[in-house]
Amino acid sequence: QNQPPFTFTLFGGTGDLAMRKILPALFIAHRDAKLHETGRIICVSKQAFSRDEYLDWVSKNAAPHVKGGGASVDIEDVAWRSFLARIDYLALDLVEPTGYQRLAELLAQSKVVSVFYLATSPLLFERICANLATSTVDLSQARVVLEKPLGHDLRSSHAINDAVARVFSEDQIYRIDHYLGKESVQNLLALRFANSLFEPLWRRESIAHVQLTIAEQLGVEGRGEFYDGTGALRDMVQNHLLQLLCTVAMEPPTSFDANAVRDEKVRVLRALRPFSAEDLELRAVRGQYVAGAVNSQSVPGYLQEPGIGPRSQTETFVALHAEINNWRWAGVPFFLRTGKRLAHRAAEIVITFRPVPHAILPMPFGSGSVSNRLVIRLQPDESIQLHCLAKQPGDGMIMQPVALDLSFDQAFKQRRAEAYERLLLDAIRGNLSLFVRRDEQEAAWKWVEPLLHHWQSTASPPKPYMAGSWGPTASFAMMARAGAQWPEDG
Ligand code: BG6
Repeated sequence: QNQPPFTFTLFGGTGDLAMRKILPALFIAHRDAKLHETGRIICVSKQAFSRDEYLDWVSKNAAPHVKGGGASVDIEDVAWRSFLARIDYLALDLVEPTGYQRLAELLAQSKVVSVFYLATSPLLFERICANLATSTVDLSQARVVLEKPLGHDLRSSHAINDAVARVFSEDQIYRIDHYLGKESVQNLLALRFANSLFEPLWRRESIAHVQLTIAEQLGVEGRGEFYDGTGALRDMVQNHLLQLLCTVAMEPPTSFDANAVRDEKVRVLRALRPFSAEDLELRAVRGQYVAGAVNSQSVPGYLQEPGIGPRSQTETFVALHAEINNWRWAGVPFFLRTGKRLAHRAAEIVITFRPVPHAILPMPFGSGSVSNRLVIRLQPDESIQLHCLAKQPGDGMIMQPVALDLSFDQAFKQRRAEAYERLLLDAIRGNLSLFVRRDEQEAAWKWVEPLLHHWQSTASPPKPYMAGSWGPTASFAMMARAGAQWPEDG
């Protein structure tokens, strides 16, 4: 892979994301010689640190999050020291144009690819972009990476996109959805488009329904205030789950070119059947966890978490029954589900095929086990299983479910890159394929917005579910109405 010389300017350089994800990912890329040797990292934040103080802060707060390759990093190690040597620190009031001149001076030393990573509150995006534009920073070779949440609804996302577009053209804008950086999600593309086996079956004639689950055991983890103003629909569905849905449902693009892929994804988003008044009640469930136990440890309910209003109606769980109005998928339910404090951490796509048209063999009891299912597990472990029926050995024709099982851990011994590592390298190399285009992002907002409005205006609170369960019973009832079941109900 080519490794262009670059400067990487990280706004929000003392923030949580910088410490937990961005700097650890850059370190791993550095350690594995994936960054050009002259590449520089300039971290910007308003805290009055000297460079040395900042580097100590990074060693204390970012190094423990380095995960790639097993053991966490030794900060005395030569790789860590040489990584720190790439980093400069600039204390800057981000809203004030004056300080940007100092950034321009730091950047002026070389004419290389410039990546500006905005890991700040999106409320600052407009000012940062405008201040960059009025400074003498050279933006001709610049790329800007935008972290979510990109807006609160369609209107606010328009406003952010318009503000950024005043300074950067669309092909300079890298909107992150870290799910797209996951190796397992790219494997889904490989499964679909590098194999001829699945494509003839990948349609309404063969598929009964598709389920997409992102389940977390974690609660709001010290992000109470942010989360309470956000909720699961904005935090997970509008972006990660809809991106997974696009990856499953899109037509084969004509090439792997960024725009060819994104054209197909946006077509899926635009084809999502809008929620009718009835759907808002019957095809959407929102829940909120109450105290319970996760992995046998007692955990408090959402309303008892720090930073959460005592009468908050923010949802920590969402289940939806979506449909895609096009020839390939008409009438096929896509069930989407995500929640915090659920029984297990799992991200999984379950594709259930139609049953045989005429059963000549005695089938096992329970509809869940009769159909062929392709289960694509994205995390915590990565695997693909094809569930079939086989004859039990012995007398008679007794059917039994069995699985063809591919574990990626066993099949590939190489280390798999973390999502952020992959995406940051793509931003430096100028590859937009795994970033979200403006029209995709806005189509996704447009689809979820009626739900946001409905939930805001309705008097009925989210349905309670016990921490450590699989969400409110209403989610199982929603499936039953469509003649389906979540896997753990089968
Ligand atoms: C983030 C959400 O985008 O994704 C978090 O803001 C969530 O609330 C996280 O925990 C889940 O990501 P992953 O990679 O751990 O599944």
